[in-house]
Amino acid sequence: MSPVDISEFLRKLGVGRRFLDASFANYRGAEKLIRQIRSAIDEVPLPNVFMFGVTGSGKSHLAVSILRDHFESGRAYGKRIFYTTSSEFFFKLKQAIDFATEYERLIRSAIECDLLVLDDLGSEKVSEWSVEVLSMIIDKRYCELRPVIASSNLPPAEVQERYGARVASRLCTGYSFAIEMSDYRKKIAASRSVPGPAGNREFQT
Ligand SMILES: Nc1ncnc2c1ncn2[C@@H]1O[C@H](COP(=O)(O)OP(=O)(O)OP(=O)(O)O)[C@@H](O)[C@H]1O
Ligand SMILES: [Mg+2]
Repeated sequence: MSPVDISEFLRKLGVGRRFLDASFANYRGAEKLIRQIRSAIDEVPLPNVFMFGVTGSGKSHLAVSILRDHFESGRAYGKRIFYTTSSEFFFKLKQAIDFATEYERLIRSAIECDLLVLDDLGSEKVSEWSVEVLSMIIDKRYCELRPVIASSNLPPAEVQERYGARVASRLCTGYSFAIEMSDYRKKIAASRSVPGPAGNREFQT
């Protein structure tokens, strides 16, 4: 599959333009982590993968890199893939609450797709209802050996606190990766910032 085709597929899945080029190759400074993630996703069947780390550490970049790898290796061929952020999923679900068919379609897609990529878990407004829906989706997928690639700012212990032990146990016990990187957005911002008078020491009198 050509890079253009892959971008097109990613776009159709709802991947934002910022991440269309995201790949393992252009994720910098974490060769060992990339090797570990690659080796996890080479397994057949694909295991659950949970990635957690601070904002800007590149979790969404890595989630899309996993998808890209899936397309490049041909494993995505003919597969139903559902990519969403947690907040977007629950927002759409809430909007569909009065439209039984659409509500059911969304939940069915999340349960029955071959691969669910759930980015930014914890970004949604958590309620009894959202926890119940998530538990059901994760449990059904678990029973059917359908993988979930999830990312979150929450470490496993907090996932457990927020969503319960059953969700945490299923979600985080495939492969759980602590993304121990700092906020890359801050690095980019720092490299772009123009030094003010304090930084421009050579011009000071
Ligand atoms: N190690 C890295 N090498 C190259 N680019 C990176 C790296 N880490 C992050 N980026 C880039 O920095 C930006 C922020 O990363 P990203 O959105 O993936 O972080 P995140 O962990 O998902 O943050 P949040 O928790 O706020 O959702 C993206 O444009 C991403 O491509
Ligand atoms: Mg993110």
